[in-house]
Amino acid sequence: MWTSKEIRQTFIDFFRERGHTFIPSSPVIPWDDPTLLFANAGMNQFKNIFLGLKEPEVKRAVNSQKCIRAGGKHNDLEAVGKDGYHHTFFEMLGNWSFGDYYKKEAIEWAWELLTNVFHLPKDKLFATVHNTDEESYNLWKNNTDIDSSHISYFGDKDNFWEMGETGPCGPCTEIHYDRGIEHCMKKNVPGHKCELNGDCNRYIELWNLVFIQYNREEDGSLSPLKSRYVDTGAGFERLVQILQNTYSNYETDLFMPIIDKIVQMSGVPYNPETGMSHRVIADHIRCLCFALADGGFPSNEGRGYVLRRILRRAARHGRLLGFSEPFMFHLVDSVVEIMSEPFAELKGKEAYIKMVIKAEEERFNSTLDKGLERFDQICANSTEKIISGKDAFQLYDTYGFPLDLTINLAEERGFKVDTAGFEEEMKKQRERARKSSKFIYKWEDMDWIELMPSTPTDFVGYDNFSIEAHIQRYRIDDEGNLHIQLDKTPFYAESGGQVADTGRIYNDDFEMQVIDVKRIDDKFIHIGHLIKGAISSPLVKAEIDLQRRKDIARNHTATHLLHRALRMVLGEYVQQKGSFVGPDYLRFDFTQLQALTQDEINKVEDIVNEIVKENRPVHIEIKDIDEARSEGAMALFGEKYGQKVRVISVEDFSKELCGGTHISATGEIGLFKILSESSSSAGIRRIEAVTGRGAEKFVRSLQERIANLAAVLNVSEKMLETKLETMQNLIKELEEELKKKEQRQSFADVDKLLDKIVEYPDFSLLCTTVETEPERLRELGDLLKDRAKDTISLLFTIEGDKITILCVVGRDLVDKFNAGKIVKAVSQELNGKGGGRADSAMGGGKNPEKLSELMPRIPDIIRSTL
Ligand code: ALA
Repeated sequence: MWTSKEIRQTFIDFFRERGHTFIPSSPVIPWDDPTLLFANAGMNQFKNIFLGLKEPEVKRAVNSQKCIRAGGKHNDLEAVGKDGYHHTFFEMLGNWSFGDYYKKEAIEWAWELLTNVFHLPKDKLFATVHNTDEESYNLWKNNTDIDSSHISYFGDKDNFWEMGETGPCGPCTEIHYDRGIEHCMKKNVPGHKCELNGDCNRYIELWNLVFIQYNREEDGSLSPLKSRYVDTGAGFERLVQILQNTYSNYETDLFMPIIDKIVQMSGVPYNPETGMSHRVIADHIRCLCFALADGGFPSNEGRGYVLRRILRRAARHGRLLGFSEPFMFHLVDSVVEIMSEPFAELKGKEAYIKMVIKAEEERFNSTLDKGLERFDQICANSTEKIISGKDAFQLYDTYGFPLDLTINLAEERGFKVDTAGFEEEMKKQRERARKSSKFIYKWEDMDWIELMPSTPTDFVGYDNFSIEAHIQRYRIDDEGNLHIQLDKTPFYAESGGQVADTGRIYNDDFEMQVIDVKRIDDKFIHIGHLIKGAISSPLVKAEIDLQRRKDIARNHTATHLLHRALRMVLGEYVQQKGSFVGPDYLRFDFTQLQALTQDEINKVEDIVNEIVKENRPVHIEIKDIDEARSEGAMALFGEKYGQKVRVISVEDFSKELCGGTHISATGEIGLFKILSESSSSAGIRRIEAVTGRGAEKFVRSLQERIANLAAVLNVSEKMLETKLETMQNLIKELEEELKKKEQRQSFADVDKLLDKIVEYPDFSLLCTTVETEPERLRELGDLLKDRAKDTISLLFTIEGDKITILCVVGRDLVDKFNAGKIVKAVSQELNGKGGGRADSAMGGGKNPEKLSELMPRIPDIIRSTL
């Protein structure tokens, strides 16, 4: 039987033998394409070649692409587990022609591989073609030996393939496989007929050959591409299913080890006909492993939110199998074992992946329990079997239930969810959030004094630092701050991690010190203190603090250099997770599991400083987004970019889309110095660094600290280490000496104590208060045990109103007297407690003033314990 590894390799080798170059899969997270949630087809990484934006390096390529189809245009999430051949994560085997061969070879080779190499039975194979594509029809008919009654035409819905809302596309021809009537889900439905592209699971699509020739534009129109391309995609898991002759994709060697582990952990056997929960979990864990290995991270938005939903869907199915504790992270090893040979990126990341998954599971579990309770209540109170928008929203907002989870649960009980009502509540929530931000609340509620009509503010601060402008309106907030809205401004408003500019707005009548600038929609509000005068005319000068702006710009450009250098040192998977760019320092958060080594930190710092020394020019250009992307400009996912973008490039080093302010050549940075590297949150590291004046200040403060140290220790700076070492040795010696002295002291103390022994007919007694720390009592006691063998020693120390009591019974008396009992009896007299062993016991008491009255009674108290 074919193993999955052999099948993958055979596909690749077949096309290699026909002049194709193997190209590794791109990551499932398309970092450079924010229009795409996840890699959803093998062609993603070749998009720019199809669009004519990038020259192909080879004419023919073959690969096995890791794809995720959850969210976005190709979203299979809800189908996963219900049937046996949809997946969130799957591999797509593909062969590619970049302006080289076309339909003839694509069809002939596909047929040859399936029938001559994999030996699939010809009578089970079917071909579909687009209803305008007679050429493909004839190629199937004349150039292969497929049964000609197995070739049929379909329309756009089935045989025109598109990457997304926009992008390369074209007609396709698909190969389907007849799994036999026993797989028809509708065999008992009267009048049902099994059909290609039908809905009964009997025929499954195996391979799609797309003839890319158009680009779908933003306006929906199709424009022809410069050249013609072949883009094929064979469902790897489906091919494995057929070649291993299993009931569904899940009983193959790709999934069974994972399912076996689920069975072993849950004790619930897997049944291919009913095992939806096993399937969901097995599918989703593969998806999560690959997404996390490629730098994805569960969160509340964008890609991260899809990952969170996938995890929660699996976790919920875990509940159905009886798991109440996190369990999915235990499956990671199985996935890595099956998949890390073809996809080495999984190796070494097991611990990280487990940690992230476990943390997410824990997080979900805690809300799920409460949410399910609430869900039951809601159902019990509903007479019409409808979950209202309000309730669905509460489940979402308070219990973390994604809407689809609520819908799922509802469906299971025959309930419906008012999704429109839910959306309405979501809208209200956003509105509330907007208002609850203190500043914006005031913004909306306070009255403006209008001097001129309010228009969008023209930001001219990239090139101008002091300009004439007009106050359109102003007001004073509760805290006495002045707010001014200008028609144009050189002030940068806080955005993209960069802090706002500060400066002055003034004319002959008044002056305002600007301490913050907020951008609300398209208006810039300058906030600050009135220094003198009052606003009387709208014409003012607006001037930013230029030194400070330059400090900020240095840090901002340095942030780009740092980003690039981190990718060079750690790997291209490093992804920015937030930044702060201020005048004094910069902060950069990025995805990375382990702390950087000192060596890595040094490397990153060296790379940046090298680029600084080379004084490379920084170019700022406005470009079309597609062009910027094809040049490899780094973009942040989740950020909204327009058609025109601002591209900041440091010559031959880094290129990022960015709206911030920058220096004109890297030399202006001066010195780049990393101050710290630390953990920001799970899987995210944080670097803090300084440049320019900040770096100078840092170096100076280091020098000053060293000078201070030297002064305090009274040595030259050169001798600091030697001096500290000598001091350390001295301290050690002194400590030892002190210990010896204490011991000598104890012996002397004991000698003195022995003088106080009083002889009674039945025992001798040493009963006295001693002035020592309670901790040292025991030490004295140990000495007394040996030195006063025939004596009962009872020692008291007093600290404030607390008495500590120690009783030691000498070696020769332990058969008769019991220290524990004696301490118990004595401490009771002193309103305290105590006890211990027969030879030595401790206790405590209060009321030291009672002690003198107690002393004469001690011998009798001791006798009373006998
Ligand atoms: N790009 C085609 C698909 O994903 C082959 O189905």
